[in-house]
Amino acid sequence: MSETINNESLITNDVKTTLLEAKNLSHEFDYKLFENINLTLEKKESIAIIGMSGSGKSTLLNILSSLLEPKSGEITFNKENIYAVKKNRLLNIRREDFGIIFQAHYLFRGFSANDNLEIATLLSGEPIDNTLLKKLNIDFVINQGVGELSGGQQQRLSIARVLTKKPKIIFADEPTGNLDKETAQVVMNTLRTYIKENDAGMILVTHENELAMACDKVYKLENLQLQELK
Ligand SMILES: Nc1ncnc2c1ncn2[C@@H]1O[C@H](COP(=O)(O)OP(=O)(O)OP(=O)(O)O)[C@@H](O)[C@H]1O
Ligand SMILES: [Mg+2]
Repeated sequence: MSETINNESLITNDVKTTLLEAKNLSHEFDYKLFENINLTLEKKESIAIIGMSGSGKSTLLNILSSLLEPKSGEITFNKENIYAVKKNRLLNIRREDFGIIFQAHYLFRGFSANDNLEIATLLSGEPIDNTLLKKLNIDFVINQGVGELSGGQQQRLSIARVLTKKPKIIFADEPTGNLDKETAQVVMNTLRTYIKENDAGMILVTHENELAMACDKVYKLENLQLQELK
């Protein structure tokens, strides 16, 4: 009897470990960027995408994160095709399950750092995590206005804001672009710890090989394809 239950739970677990699945994605603007790309993100997994400037990394991340419909192909999140569901459902997925860290961060500039975090707690019902703020070394600037923060502090604040939402998947486009090496490492460790502790996943675009290699899987976007490097 107990064996049957174990088997069943194994099967259920197995099915549930896939967070995001992309099938046969193709996209182009003025020229073809990629063709028939497939990608699977599992729980607790981090994937890095590297490639030359203009190869289409940000475009691919936008497509994966629900912001841009691909020319062809489909993306499923927990078995739901994100570009086929009703608009309200997609907004909910984007608000509750996806945490998107942009190349340029969009903080509310007239407000304090703390106000910006409160907005995320309003959306998610999750409290602000002071340990996280300490880890990112921004706890001491939390009452300052966004305009009074350094570029790197703003970047870490926008990462803290995304994590405060407790997303299931983090999509990050050059999240450490403005940071010195040591701080970049802290941010990467924070993101990786987050996904391991929360059964979440991460897809990250970066120019820095060292940071990419710290992820579980690494792909290079080249010749219209994702070449697996790790
Ligand atoms: N909305 C758009 N309309 C038209 N062309 C676009 C659009 N977005 C991106 N492109 C073009 O698609 C190509 C790929 O852009 P993308 O931003 O995906 O590159 P990237 O790999 O992220 O580059 P980088 O490393 O410089 O950030 C570029 O030639 C860009 O000009
Ligand atoms: Mg880009």
